[in-house]
Amino acid sequence: MSVPTNHKKLIAWVNEIEAMCKPDRVEWCDGTKEEYDRHMNDMIESGLAVKLNEEKRPNSVLFRSDPSDVARVEDRTYIASRSKDEAGPTNNWIDPVELKQTMRELYDGCMRGRTMYVIPFSMGPIGSPIAKIGIEITDSAYVVVNMHIMTRVGTKVLETLGDEGQFIPCVHSVGKPLEPGESDDGQWPCAPIEQKYIAHFPEENLIWSYGSGYGGNALLGKKCLALRIASALAKREGWMAEHMLILRLTSPKGKQYHIAAAFPSACGKTNLAMLIPTVPGWKAECIGDDIAWMKIGPDGTLRAINPEAGFFGVAPGTSYKSNPMAMETIKENSIFTNCVLTDDNDIWWEDMNVEIDHGIDWKGNDWTPDSGTPGAHPNARFTTPAAQCPIICDDWEDPKGVPIDIFIFGGRRTKVMPLVHEAFDWDHGVFMGATAASEPTAAALDVKGKLRRDPMAMLPFCGYNIGNYWDHWFEMGDKLGEKAPKIFYVNWFRKNDQGKFIWPGFGENSRVLEWMCQRVSGEVGAIETPLGMMPRLEDLDLNGLEISQEEMEEILKVDADAFVSEFGDLDSFIDSVGDRLPKRMEQQITAYKARMK
Ligand code: OXD
Ligand code: MN
Repeated sequence: MSVPTNHKKLIAWVNEIEAMCKPDRVEWCDGTKEEYDRHMNDMIESGLAVKLNEEKRPNSVLFRSDPSDVARVEDRTYIASRSKDEAGPTNNWIDPVELKQTMRELYDGCMRGRTMYVIPFSMGPIGSPIAKIGIEITDSAYVVVNMHIMTRVGTKVLETLGDEGQFIPCVHSVGKPLEPGESDDGQWPCAPIEQKYIAHFPEENLIWSYGSGYGGNALLGKKCLALRIASALAKREGWMAEHMLILRLTSPKGKQYHIAAAFPSACGKTNLAMLIPTVPGWKAECIGDDIAWMKIGPDGTLRAINPEAGFFGVAPGTSYKSNPMAMETIKENSIFTNCVLTDDNDIWWEDMNVEIDHGIDWKGNDWTPDSGTPGAHPNARFTTPAAQCPIICDDWEDPKGVPIDIFIFGGRRTKVMPLVHEAFDWDHGVFMGATAASEPTAAALDVKGKLRRDPMAMLPFCGYNIGNYWDHWFEMGDKLGEKAPKIFYVNWFRKNDQGKFIWPGFGENSRVLEWMCQRVSGEVGAIETPLGMMPRLEDLDLNGLEISQEEMEEILKVDADAFVSEFGDLDSFIDSVGDRLPKRMEQQITAYKARMK
């Protein structure tokens, strides 16, 4: 195949990786439907993918991964900056020279028997001043088709890059070379866990990933480029790359508000991004469900774009009740991974609100509801084009981005943290985000334990020292001044003593969002508490909601003793940040403790 670019640096790099990985052939991806269909058909034919029922779920397939390769591997994810301090306390670090040596040995000949694909992709609308171009080299056709959906792939990207444009090089291999005559035989290729490396070299804007074919480990535009590398770039260049959904709310009076919200993985981010408000007259539209890139615009507001083109959502729990718009989005042209295959060749997962008697589980075994194991892996995913979402904003690809009015942080806490509170000011909001905590979920393989502090939901995604990251937040607040978004914190997940969720969640969360919007416009009240500003019962629109006054009081209460009992946990987290802890954060902690006492 001829090389479709004259970009000397790009060609030299592709040649270098080819010489190292020794694939049987090299293919440059053009991003066309023909290319997507060809790869899909090959994977269906080889048994790696199952074509779903064309009538029920047109142009869609199911993959089953290897049982050892089902989620991001945080223990095997590295920020290899030159100094360990630069990576900071929240990242795994290996000296970049040493890591490259180790990985070069693994990469040596790792693509034997396979095709090496070169995928030119754009994060953000092609040519937008906020967008960045990446080139992913991979030996996985599964990655190629997923990248087609999740990013903008193809020839147009190469045209925009021209002969000298800048790109972020991303190398990926599943780490499973084939002997002559050997094939995958329908099995998901990957390397054993101790050989997996998800490596980032932020000073070189370089990503090397080895050994996993799954999600964020392999689709390098997402967590690796758009968060870890981009966060480091954003710090250097004065913008923000955040783990945030973006949505637009329009009030009954027609006023638009833009919200960017950060929650740890699998805390309902995709659901909130596509919520249907239950409050009459309010309209919500989606712009993104996972990542926001934000720059201060010419008018001084913070402008956000969604760098992705698709949704890579957690399937279990997604239903017409929890997220009808996601269910509509995945009706066709979608890729499913590790879901149940039903007897009529459709997909199913736990809490889909559909009953089935029998299917094939994510491991490929016969499954019934009595099997005693989940049919779908808890981190089973759908990959689906954002443009198919019925409530995607008409202008979601506007290269200028949308002006953010509200930041929301949050996590999953069954006790202690109330439904909502608002920051007294920007610095307090940065403290709220920095100390956000959640109970762990299934999106990462190796996260266990009870509570994890997940600053701005960036714990596994911040590509440099977290202390400097917080400094960057403070500095952005200084630059934005009066135009800075207001900051809030929510917890939808409080449970009562019987273990039942108190707040109904989903579309009803619009009641809380409405309060936030009205706070921005100065239309509604709040009371001051040691935690922050909070709505009184009468400040929330609870019309038509089945929730008792006692329950509402319970989830709007600040139990200072409970927060005091967590000071130890807070201190050990803050101490772990070490000497790069910003002074302004120390001041926030002192003030917080004084308010709680
Ligand atoms: C994701 C995650 O996949 O945050 O979006 O884990
Ligand atoms: Mn995410």
